[in-house]
Amino acid sequence: IFTAVEMAPRDPILGLNEQYAADTNPNKVNLGVGVYYDDNGKLPLLECVKAAEADMMKAPSARGYLPIDGIAAYDNAVKGLVFGADSEPVKSGRVATIQAIGGTGGLKVGADFLKKVNPDAKVLISDPSWENHRALFTNAGFNVEAYPYYDAEKRGVNFDGMLEALGSAASGTIVVLHACCHNPTGYDLTPDQWDQVIGVVRAKHLVPFLDMAYQGFGYGIAEDGAVIGKFVAAGLSFFVSTSFSKSFSLYGERVGALSVLCADKDEAARVLSQLKIAIRTNYSNPPIHGGAVVAAVLGDPARRAVWEKELAEMRERIKAMRHKLVDGLKAAGVQRDMSFITQQIGMFSYSGLTKDQMVTLRNEYGVYGTDTGRMCVAALNSKNIDYVCQSIAKVLS
Ligand code: LMR
Repeated sequence: IFTAVEMAPRDPILGLNEQYAADTNPNKVNLGVGVYYDDNGKLPLLECVKAAEADMMKAPSARGYLPIDGIAAYDNAVKGLVFGADSEPVKSGRVATIQAIGGTGGLKVGADFLKKVNPDAKVLISDPSWENHRALFTNAGFNVEAYPYYDAEKRGVNFDGMLEALGSAASGTIVVLHACCHNPTGYDLTPDQWDQVIGVVRAKHLVPFLDMAYQGFGYGIAEDGAVIGKFVAAGLSFFVSTSFSKSFSLYGERVGALSVLCADKDEAARVLSQLKIAIRTNYSNPPIHGGAVVAAVLGDPARRAVWEKELAEMRERIKAMRHKLVDGLKAAGVQRDMSFITQQIGMFSYSGLTKDQMVTLRNEYGVYGTDTGRMCVAALNSKNIDYVCQSIAKVLS
């Protein structure tokens, strides 16, 4: 029965991890997947997480099934983080939130639900976007197309192109937007541009799906989440997927969420009932540990303060590495102006290197980024940065 099964290509992001693991180059550096490493090249275990886990271990508990939509305290904490605990949507009970298996799980539950509600809708993702957006919505049964986003020449957002594409989309089109720290380009919309996008979304009756995988990695938790307030103020219904993989350094716990802002409490209850069917038929109900940790941190003011401090440290270290990268590339002899790297935000730099250059960087120097030229600057540190700069300089010479 499997004779006709073809070998699938490696995942464009996670596949690099496999290749990196097999690489024997002692100088190898993994700037492929979006993971934050500290200055010693170690994946951090956050103090807030360690403390919450220590408390949990003091009173070990048996593991029954969670409710289909997850831990109630977790879902409430997510609502608070995304919309504001005292916000009107939360107070009026019109947000349906479910604990999801990572941000990817939130996207998939949302996609499956949307496929039931609006099976003929088209999905628009940014060009370029996170590699998995297209695959995920395609596998959920949608026809996926892209709206212009990146302007390579001016190094920034092709905002006119984006607005025009959204303006000519059919009513009901699902538009996937990056709430902050656009992956892969690192270029976000300005507040004024968001207002214009929201205007078109409303006028054209588009369905916004905000992917918020990096809240806190741009300018701060509230600052990065401000776009949500804009969509609320515009009176729109919309989807938000949340990931705590990066912000809590809990990648392997797969802890994320999906929130759907509805018109009223009754609608939210009906939407939640349908989200639960999507969950039940995919994986039944979520695992406990990661959600319990995040709920314990977000629900305790002292611990939350520790988390915010640790998150700020990660954010600031990434920014410092961006500056070091620009200086280091110049010192290594790179002629072209690379200062754009400090204008980009979040974990990634869209370097402008071609696929061939990225492949050479990988194969000859063991420096891994995606074929699109994306490099995870959050994996740079004071020990590997010189080698990375010299390798890039050689590839560009
Ligand atoms: C990335 O873009 O590298 C991260 O979001 C990790 C992933 O799942 O692809």
